[in-house]
Amino acid sequence: MISQTIKKAVFPVAGLGTRMLPATKAVPKELLPLYDTPILDILVEEAIDAGIEEIIFVVSREKYLIEHYFDSFPELERRLEEKKDFMRLEKIQKYKNIKFSSVRQGEQKGDGHALMQARHLLGDESFLVVFGDDVMFGNPSSMGQLIDAYENNKNSIVGVYEVNEKNVSSYGIVAPIKEIQKVFPIADVQEKPSREQAKSNLAIIGKYICTKDIWNALENAGTSHGGEMRLADAFLEMIPNTPLSACLLSGNRFDTGNMHGYFFANLFYSLQRGEITRDQVQEFLKTY
Ligand code: UTP
Repeated sequence: MISQTIKKAVFPVAGLGTRMLPATKAVPKELLPLYDTPILDILVEEAIDAGIEEIIFVVSREKYLIEHYFDSFPELERRLEEKKDFMRLEKIQKYKNIKFSSVRQGEQKGDGHALMQARHLLGDESFLVVFGDDVMFGNPSSMGQLIDAYENNKNSIVGVYEVNEKNVSSYGIVAPIKEIQKVFPIADVQEKPSREQAKSNLAIIGKYICTKDIWNALENAGTSHGGEMRLADAFLEMIPNTPLSACLLSGNRFDTGNMHGYFFANLFYSLQRGEITRDQVQEFLKTY
């Protein structure tokens, strides 16, 4: 087995979450729960299970609740200990041995700009990037698949997911150099192409492995879309000079950054956890 070199994961979670207002006016969309567990907790657990040892959040001034959530809470821990409620205690202590840090993005100037705020914590290392509003359930996990792809190829990797052809215009779409395999080199990235123009139905979702090449690519790509620095532009910038691959991720994927995706992610996760049964849902649908 190859020993894992990817140790750090960056979660850019400083976005405004406007698509989920009013729910996200005071509560970050990343802390909305699927059943009883915040989305970001599910994602962090997946990262740690995939071998990540250090978590870096890029937050904004308004998203301090994310730092609180992953901090310890001695008073609550004491209470649960006294009540011998070890099941809940374990749930709130599960990250005790993990290193968390956070940096601030002062203004929402794009996902690439968010990443730039963590540059000093990453140096020349390659690292995992995970958006806080995209979840995938499956075995192996999506982050495990990406890390494996990196350890075998050692270049930047973009996680892609097969979407329905009628939805390609909502995504960045990758074009392969040759045939599509589990991991394949990318020839082009198309920004929200029409169904007719799309070179594939493989959409970029919020999971990547970046090598140190990302820093120059972000700088060279500069800003677009009204002053935003975007990861998608940096990957386009990379293509002619630096090898860039896509990893076709398998699993059940939900965009929890919109209410529709969030609702179905919640239902899927609750069913998977066995907290709600299919029969209960069917009975409910028959009744109302
Ligand atoms: P999104 O565009 O999906 O998130 O960014 P958003 O901006 O919060 O959503 P809407 O459009 O207003 O509803 C993808 C990821 O990048 C982060 C977001 O938090 C999300 O995880 N992001 C985006 C930042 O950290 N900073 C930014 O300036 C923009």
